[in-house]
Amino acid sequence: MTAVVAFVSQKGGVGKSTLSRALAREVAAGGLSVKIADLDTQQGTSVDWHRARLAAQIEPRVSVEAFGTAGQALAASERFDLLIIDGPARTSQATLEIARAANLVVQPTGASLDDLRPGVREFHALVKAGIPNERLAFALNRIGTAAEESDARDFLHDAGYTVLDGSLLERPAYRLAQNGGSSVTETRFAGLNVKADKLIQSLIDKATA
Ligand SMILES: Nc1ncnc2c1ncn2[C@@H]1O[C@H](COP(=O)(O)OP(=O)(O)O)[C@@H](O)[C@H]1O
Ligand SMILES: [Mg+2]
Repeated sequence: MTAVVAFVSQKGGVGKSTLSRALAREVAAGGLSVKIADLDTQQGTSVDWHRARLAAQIEPRVSVEAFGTAGQALAASERFDLLIIDGPARTSQATLEIARAANLVVQPTGASLDDLRPGVREFHALVKAGIPNERLAFALNRIGTAAEESDARDFLHDAGYTVLDGSLLERPAYRLAQNGGSSVTETRFAGLNVKADKLIQSLIDKATA
């Protein structure tokens, strides 16, 4: 059976596509077959990234395809070990449909209260709609300092949610890597790759728990 990990958030720019790509890269490097379903049909950012990756002939190869809904993505992904849903911003309805299809729902978030509060509200809404809390996890992104990370972690724990170990620092090198079709685990900086990989490995651990 295909496992499904979905990245959701009401906000754009929090890191859904960034983490989708890194997860796909690491799972593919581990020898499993993986597909990213790009549900952000207006932006299609992961589809564009995939084109850049193919053009630069970066291995391992990953599969990316645009879909209109989570249901369509699921129906077309039976032969893959893992389906990664790179969700669109906005629309709670689509988010709920995506969450129902997923074994694990990851919400990337920044560390400011402006990011954390709407993120918690979003998960509260999913729980209220019947998605089990155990299937939800936050991923911290655009972190500046260790103190900032620790405060954000405490806030989300206090709200009742799992926060994945590890985080992504805010770094131009992560943008640069992705511009060229690489993932945030494939930058030119070993330290940044290790840091990104820690977050992705804890995601994989949670998804396979
Ligand atoms: N930790 C980070 N450091 C620097 N840039 C980042 C980081 N995370 C994401 N970005 C950049 O921010 C932009 C938005 O990220 P993206 O993953 O596309 O968000 P979403 O899919 O949630 O809209 C992209 O240009 C991406 O490269
Ligand atoms: Mg995106």
